[in-house]
Amino acid sequence: MTSHAEVTLQRQLDDEGVLLLTLDRPEKKNAFREQEWDGLALALDEASADPRVAVVVLTGAGGNFSSGVDLGSFSGGPRAPRADGKPSAFFACVDSIFACAKPLLAAVEGVAVGGGCTIAVAADVAYAGEGTRMRLPFANLGLVPEIASSYLLQQNIGRQRAAEIMFTAEWIDAQRALELGLVARVLPQGGALPAMMDKAREMARWPVSALVAIKRTLKTAHEAGIAAARAIEDSEMMRLAGSPENIEAITAFMQKRDPDFKQFRK
Ligand code: COA
Repeated sequence: MTSHAEVTLQRQLDDEGVLLLTLDRPEKKNAFREQEWDGLALALDEASADPRVAVVVLTGAGGNFSSGVDLGSFSGGPRAPRADGKPSAFFACVDSIFACAKPLLAAVEGVAVGGGCTIAVAADVAYAGEGTRMRLPFANLGLVPEIASSYLLQQNIGRQRAAEIMFTAEWIDAQRALELGLVARVLPQGGALPAMMDKAREMARWPVSALVAIKRTLKTAHEAGIAAARAIEDSEMMRLAGSPENIEAITAFMQKRDPDFKQFRK
């Protein structure tokens, strides 16, 4: 078992008030286990409360943003309620993402899959490097969208285009992500973080009180949609996680083979 003392989220606050959070588990493409959800939730909660923090930038180490939920921990782990009855690490982190009081910016390179993609979609602004590959891998895992992406994606890119990429689980490269409106800008490979940091510093010149109030005004119109999406996503996810189709998908991934979903059509 991995020690919870292992630090997989780097935090760096600069003099301008830009807090850089770096997902740092590069050997697994920054996949999230319980401790990664907990670490991100804590960092976002503290950033919301810390008057020195004006803007938060989230990125990934090792040339990738994130491969989403750790499929090795999927079946019980991040969604199951904790022993003390508190919400699971996953649900608590999603609460913290949507409760983040400061502008939340994502600098994406390499893979942004599953939670790695839906966190970028939930961010206020996302930039992508040229080599970015995004994917909403829910249909292929026998699952449903998460982190309110079933609402936010339709809101950001339109109903039909959202349905197309949700139902196919296709890969989306940086240029297509820009064309769709999944990200605000595409930079040369490796350029997403420097450009996002420049933009964050541009924002951080202004009063934190104004940034926080603007964020509240931007969020209000979406609150009901996000809450409704999270409710249906969470109940469908609890129903489908651990289904035979989902187990086949995860087993196939672990065994590095293609899944066989036809077996369930008899
Ligand atoms: N959970 C657990 N392990 C993961 C992971 C994830 N989400 N994503 C990658 N890894 C692991 C791989 O198993 C591999 O481990 P190993 O070196 O011990 O074999 C390592 O990270 C490197 O990944 P690999 O698949 O070899 O890299 P790749 O460049 O060929 O492909 C991805 C990268 C992200 C496209 C591919 O790993 C993938 O599809 N991962 C699953 C993503 C996913 O479905 N997330 C769902 C969230 S709901």
